[in-house]
Amino acid sequence: MKYEDIYKHSINDPEGFWAQEAKRIDWHQPFTQTLDYSKPPFANWFVGGKTNLCHNAVDRWAASHGDNTALIAISTETADGTPAEKTWTFKELQAEVERTAAMMSELGVGKGDIVLIYMPMIAEASFAMLACARIGAIHSVVFGGFASNSLATRIDDARPKLIVSSDAGSRGGKPVPYKPLLDEAIHLADHKPEHVLLIDRGLVPMNLVAGRDVDYASLRAKHINTKVPVTWLASDDISYILYTSGTTGKPKGVQRDVGGYAVALASSMETIFCGKPGETYFATSDIGWVVGHSYIVYGPLIAGMATIMYEGTPLRPDASIWWQIVEKYKVTRMFSAPTAVRVLKKQPPEMMKKYDVSSLKALYLAGEPLDETTSAWIAEELGVSIIDNYWQTETGWPVLSIAKGIEDKPTRLGSPGIPMPGYKIKLLNEATGELCGSNEKGVVVIEGPLPPGFMQTIFGDDERYIKTYWSNFKTEQVYSTFDWGIRDDDGYYFILGRTDDVINVAGHRLGTREIEESISSHPNVSEVAVVGVEDKLKGQVAVAFVIPKLAETTLSAEARHQLEKEVFAIVDKQLGPVARPARVHCVTLLPKTRSGKLLRRSIQAICEGRDPGDLTTIEDPGSLVQIREALKP
Ligand code: PRX
Repeated sequence: MKYEDIYKHSINDPEGFWAQEAKRIDWHQPFTQTLDYSKPPFANWFVGGKTNLCHNAVDRWAASHGDNTALIAISTETADGTPAEKTWTFKELQAEVERTAAMMSELGVGKGDIVLIYMPMIAEASFAMLACARIGAIHSVVFGGFASNSLATRIDDARPKLIVSSDAGSRGGKPVPYKPLLDEAIHLADHKPEHVLLIDRGLVPMNLVAGRDVDYASLRAKHINTKVPVTWLASDDISYILYTSGTTGKPKGVQRDVGGYAVALASSMETIFCGKPGETYFATSDIGWVVGHSYIVYGPLIAGMATIMYEGTPLRPDASIWWQIVEKYKVTRMFSAPTAVRVLKKQPPEMMKKYDVSSLKALYLAGEPLDETTSAWIAEELGVSIIDNYWQTETGWPVLSIAKGIEDKPTRLGSPGIPMPGYKIKLLNEATGELCGSNEKGVVVIEGPLPPGFMQTIFGDDERYIKTYWSNFKTEQVYSTFDWGIRDDDGYYFILGRTDDVINVAGHRLGTREIEESISSHPNVSEVAVVGVEDKLKGQVAVAFVIPKLAETTLSAEARHQLEKEVFAIVDKQLGPVARPARVHCVTLLPKTRSGKLLRRSIQAICEGRDPGDLTTIEDPGSLVQIREALKP
């Protein structure tokens, strides 16, 4: 079948299409209704069906291909960067997940309870996710690069019964302690978890809080032989919550179901990623992000593939490490981000030639715009197709790409591709809501019903879900991606950046408001604006403009430097180094409208050397002069 036929089928008859796709997974009880769309925009897929993500990812493969490799954990965060490696077959993975599930059950966790996972990229993190899925507990993984305030906000929103964590992560061979950040976060949060399950990697000393903290190894030893059957879940039960940034300072808990997600992953693993059971998949992301959920843990395993969990940078022990892994494990499909490729491009060219990467069939890149130079370079170096794919935490799986598993359609440089099955996409004029024609810039929106695997709602806040995503146009109710896009005459889309205050630093999605709130808590800062500014390596970086409290007297260069250092420190402590702005500039005035709204787009335009746009509503044009002055070297 051709892409056009399949795509049309998915749009004209979504129920027929997805009922067919649903056969890719095991159902304990078949569904009676493919889609309930009686309360738009909420789409409820596979109503009446019972299934389980862990069963589909682990147990069914353990039963049929038990000795195939399932998980490969590799860490180059060792003393000298030499990879430490361990593998699990599907049978072994099943046993380990059962142990972890037994540990959680002993700690009082059952169906519908929330478990927050704050972990480095170690195998235990995926055991914990799969164990939650097995017993119907809802996991909420928080990226290890986030610090105490970010963590506290998420603890208060998710209200976990249990937190699973470890003594430390590691970066460039140096331990990054987690436990003190976690203790501080629990102290800051109103909600207190009953227990904290801690893996002691022996990286830094840890103080266990009596009655609350539990040592992972001791509890595991008790459950070496414990069997925990799968809990069959309704298709629309919640599988997980994953927090992501938006326009406000309060992160949104993207909530996902069980059945729809399993089907969407099984489907996309074949149609987009061409994954075959027995082959090895290597996604270089982190379990703290959606790519880690969909295409490190669940997707590849559901497809019966071995999946690699990699702890480390692409440069340690040297810049050939990823290719060493590809050669050793005969990786066929690899998933990474443009930033990582740009980092590799700056390394000595021989690093790309040290290993035999002939097993590799395609490299998938996502998370940020893929520029043509980067794409062309890596395609040439590896000799494989580079497949850009565009999606979001909210969507759970690619919206735009080239479905090579359906038809070998050509990719187009600079474009993530065409709509994937199930996605009815169009571009609307931001102001009028009118449909854009070819080559006309507009907001990328998706018409409901949204396909399986998409977020169900914002955790605990249906109203916010509708208000945030479905109420941006007066003319019609459509899901807004908050991305600018353009479509060429052949139907290929190009993504041109966000319409809101979300920025994308090295493929990491961050909210400028969260960073502003953190900087505002500095005692000497009276006002602040943070914008995302184009960066050759990271795609974007955060740049902060602050009005110091003592702004009347011009600060000396030394005082400005000191303030910048303090701003870095406060963001590191509260949000984590991942959110630290690249630069902090001092001004006495910020560009605002007469009603007091910050003109972030104008600030961003000036930083990028573009025209600041329509300034008829600006309160004091002198503020723009200050931004220009501040940027002068
Ligand atoms: O702005 C788009 C950008 O990343 C945002 C979503 O980020 P996140 O929720 O972290 O999910 C990442 C999943 C891969 C989008 O709104 N983005 C993502 N992929 C692309 C992209 N921009 C351009 N090209 C892409 N391929």
